[in-house]
Amino acid sequence: MTAEGAPAPGENPLVEGLERLPVPPTVLVIFGATGDLSKRKLLPALYNLAHEGALPERFHLVGSSRSHLSDDDFRREAADAVREFSRRPPDETVLEALLRSVRWVSGGFDDPATYEALGTTLDDLDAETGRVALNRAFYLSTAPGFFPVIVEHLGRRGLHECEGSGAGTRIIIEKPFGSTLASAVDLNERVLSVFSESQVFRIDHYLGKETVQNMLAFRFANRMFEPVWNRDHIASVQITAAEDIGIGSRAGYYDSSGALRDLVQNHLLQLLCLLCMEPPIDLGADQVRNEKVKVLKAIRPPTPDEVDAMAVRGQYAAGTAGGEPVPGYREEDGVADGSTTETFAALRLEVRNWRWAGVPFYLRTGKRLARKVTEIAVTLKPVPHMAFDDPSHPALPPNQLVMTIQPDEGVSLSLGAKIPGTRMQIRPVQMEFQYGAAFVSQSPEAYERLILDAMRGDATLFTRNDEAEAQWRICDPIIARWGAPSSTDRVPHYAAGSQGPAAADALLRDGDSWRRI
Ligand code: BG6
Repeated sequence: MTAEGAPAPGENPLVEGLERLPVPPTVLVIFGATGDLSKRKLLPALYNLAHEGALPERFHLVGSSRSHLSDDDFRREAADAVREFSRRPPDETVLEALLRSVRWVSGGFDDPATYEALGTTLDDLDAETGRVALNRAFYLSTAPGFFPVIVEHLGRRGLHECEGSGAGTRIIIEKPFGSTLASAVDLNERVLSVFSESQVFRIDHYLGKETVQNMLAFRFANRMFEPVWNRDHIASVQITAAEDIGIGSRAGYYDSSGALRDLVQNHLLQLLCLLCMEPPIDLGADQVRNEKVKVLKAIRPPTPDEVDAMAVRGQYAAGTAGGEPVPGYREEDGVADGSTTETFAALRLEVRNWRWAGVPFYLRTGKRLARKVTEIAVTLKPVPHMAFDDPSHPALPPNQLVMTIQPDEGVSLSLGAKIPGTRMQIRPVQMEFQYGAAFVSQSPEAYERLILDAMRGDATLFTRNDEAEAQWRICDPIIARWGAPSSTDRVPHYAAGSQGPAAADALLRDGDSWRRI
């Protein structure tokens, strides 16, 4: 092991397999390159990859949108975005080298002329760079309504393949991938009528998080968890993604989306998959995704009559955040009067297979909750016979394993331990692993890993077509029930800064309780 506890090269085949894939010479085209996501995440991620020497020697960035910019204008905007949002203060020499060769292509996404201009730019770059053609990666970071339009135009202009050049073409599609099962199926059909599945990289940025990838390492690189990782030993699982922020300036998107579509359909179900899946043969994209799809297929979508018993929604009312008063959801700019969009969603799911039958999986997410925390808590069953019963002491809580995805990244295990003294008294103690203490290096941002993997052509951390559809299949009946015009249900409100609506307690089985956020 190295000083900071990271395995030396060659010591960890699980990780090494991925890291060894070369990153070919690439031109990355970002549609929507001056949008919020690009500025906050994509451009800073590219800078940090450049800083770490992870980009290929021949790398070009092309930005595109309606905005009439020159190459220099885009260069300046990109530099500003990196300076504002990069996880490390940029080294101006590295930044300048990265941005030296950027290009800008202006035009509407539905205008064939945009793709003509783009094609010419890509051909120019190929000619400039020399003998070997560049791989092409198209990143769709636009409003989702443009996804099919861009795909279709790329196909029409023949940009979906680099015929005869030996170079590869990839398309990276941001979330949301559809807004219902039917729209996701439709989008898959449109995308796959132009690109083949092996060219498509559907983003779920949670899969790029270090702590999420660690779930694979934790489960499949250690012997001690597998024997208890099943219905015989696990009583329940709770997956929480709580946020303290409101919807900010995103009402336009959020009010027609809501918490279920925004976070449950993708991030939370992905966490559930990684927790429940069978060990894959290796970390190949299909091996991992085959196992995840099996988990999703083992979750039976609720019938309309079952929805109320297994899903609860809520909407934040005025309250506090960081000690300051904040408005309720309906008072936020851009939210429709009387909106019933949920800003909180909680579900109880069952994974109906041999390993998990009967174990409740509680999922919950919400905006304007008490604090930001994403965690997975696995509660084990009590021991079959407690030899230490002491009537003067409260019952010992069962063992609980908590994987904290953010912000205090780590894993903790609660155990019963003897209190020092002459009597046999047991109380819970914590065994902790903290990323910050175990590793000195700063974790990369999720988008750094994902952009690199897409350029490498490794789809392990991306959602496959059948996976995206299986996720919608679970959520669709809940969406239908919550959105039904005939639904007279009131959306329960919860105060901003609180634990969420009390109604979520109705999902819990006897003896279970929500962890305090
Ligand atoms: C995004 C959602 O996918 O994830 C946002 O659209 C949410 O609403 C965000 O705030 C949370 O991501 P993270 O990485 O901050 O947990």
